[in-house]
Amino acid sequence: MDLIPAPTSSVLRPGEDFPLDAATTLTAPPELADAERWLRAALGAATGLPLGPGRAGEGIELVLDGALAAEAYRLTVRPGHALVAAGGPAGALWGAQTLRRLLGPDAYRRSALRDGGWVLPGADVEDAPRFGWRGVLLDVARHFLPKSDVLRFVDLIAAHKLNVLHLHLTDDQGWRVEIRRYPELTGRGAWRERSMVGYRAGQRRDDRPHGGFYTQDDLREIVAYAAARGVTVVPEIDLPGHTQAVVAAYPELGNTDVVDTSALGVWTDWGVSPNVLNASEETLRFFEGVLEEVLELFPSEFIHLGGDECPKEQWKESAAAQARIRELGLANEDELQSHVIRHFDRWLAERGRRLIGWDEILEGGLAPGAAVSSWRGFGGGIAAATAGHDVVMCPEQYVYFDHRQADGPDEPIPVGFVRSLEDVYRFEPVPAQLDEEAARHVIGTQANLWSEFMDSARDIDYRAFPRLAAFAEVAWSELPREGAERDYAGFERRLGEHLAVLDALGVEYRPVDGPHPWQRWPGVVGRPIEGPPPVR
Ligand code: ACM
Repeated sequence: MDLIPAPTSSVLRPGEDFPLDAATTLTAPPELADAERWLRAALGAATGLPLGPGRAGEGIELVLDGALAAEAYRLTVRPGHALVAAGGPAGALWGAQTLRRLLGPDAYRRSALRDGGWVLPGADVEDAPRFGWRGVLLDVARHFLPKSDVLRFVDLIAAHKLNVLHLHLTDDQGWRVEIRRYPELTGRGAWRERSMVGYRAGQRRDDRPHGGFYTQDDLREIVAYAAARGVTVVPEIDLPGHTQAVVAAYPELGNTDVVDTSALGVWTDWGVSPNVLNASEETLRFFEGVLEEVLELFPSEFIHLGGDECPKEQWKESAAAQARIRELGLANEDELQSHVIRHFDRWLAERGRRLIGWDEILEGGLAPGAAVSSWRGFGGGIAAATAGHDVVMCPEQYVYFDHRQADGPDEPIPVGFVRSLEDVYRFEPVPAQLDEEAARHVIGTQANLWSEFMDSARDIDYRAFPRLAAFAEVAWSELPREGAERDYAGFERRLGEHLAVLDALGVEYRPVDGPHPWQRWPGVVGRPIEGPPPVR
């Protein structure tokens, strides 16, 4: 059983196989209807078997077991009976994923390649995740990803037992979520006139408008589709920086006493735009209006409000910003940013939600209820966890999947550090210096797919896979012993069949020994950073 991510324990029981046929049933209690529906659809398509309803104690059966944790499951396969016992609906979905995996790579196709011959091997699997937040960020702001590709990506991450899709919905280069109250956010903010191709130094641009956005119905569909697969969608509305698209749509939200914001368009460069929000009361009200609609669409406990890379130059020059700092009794621009984040920390808490932001929100004082996505290294996460805040570890030195996978000249638009499959596999999200109490605040880990250099699902496949399989094991599977190294050779061995699963799913991953010729992008300049990453 070459399972990725590796389960807590698994044994095959030769001679106790369960061959499936047209009479095989699928049964579950109403609480596990999502897992039942998903398994019937996925296995039904791949095998051509009807998997009609049956009785307890036979066929494929999903049951609740109150003794298990919500995401834990136990899978037992014997002749005539495959039982998934789960602590809750999520555990049943993960158990159902494992059951599909036991049928082999062809069980991942959308129609049956053969008539019959579907056999579940006799097996005992016990399994539960190490972390509750096993996330992937999809940056749909820099390049819009069509809804159908987002839904496909949800299927891919669920197949890896990842359970958080962090959707980076807004940035300097585009606003991707329909807000009824503010139609110009998508009317003007959802598209740009052209894009940089590759890194700035290459001076290459296309002259093709780029854009797109999700309607509120699209987002309701994505959220529900993900939920039915055990995946929570966490939206990110980035503020007070990474906001040129907002300012282009509503110029009064910018620093109008410093720049003529009415002349701004959606940004056509990569990088960090200086055109940040002003921090007036009116701007806070505007974003409360935005967030009221965001909360209607996204039931997640956490709402990500960015907070990263907010250049303070305009606030330093702006008489209005300086007056605001004095009026609020703040020491400097960092505290003004902190004031904005604290405002929304309170605002979200009053509505039963929690704010999460990038580690810059520590600067100027962390809001009392805020959780932190630690991206500039481990330092922000260590400081936050030590102060009793929840942390998602996603250091760019390890799990930024826009960074190149190898050092060769063939890597398309090579940026960042070399982060090989093995580097990702060896990533340990909990820093050794955290004591037990602080370590409990590391609620999980996340891989981030920033999309400046990915303008299609094909490019995302290339940068995401197979590294996301290694990451899934980091996020799901316990270490062999506390403080022990993971067994990379063992992972590589299991990867062989996993790649066949990805092939069956139609994933255009990076082959282990380098890109296919058509996956290269000769002549497009990147920004590789040499040497091993310094870990902050
Ligand atoms: C980030 O990469 N600016 C969070």
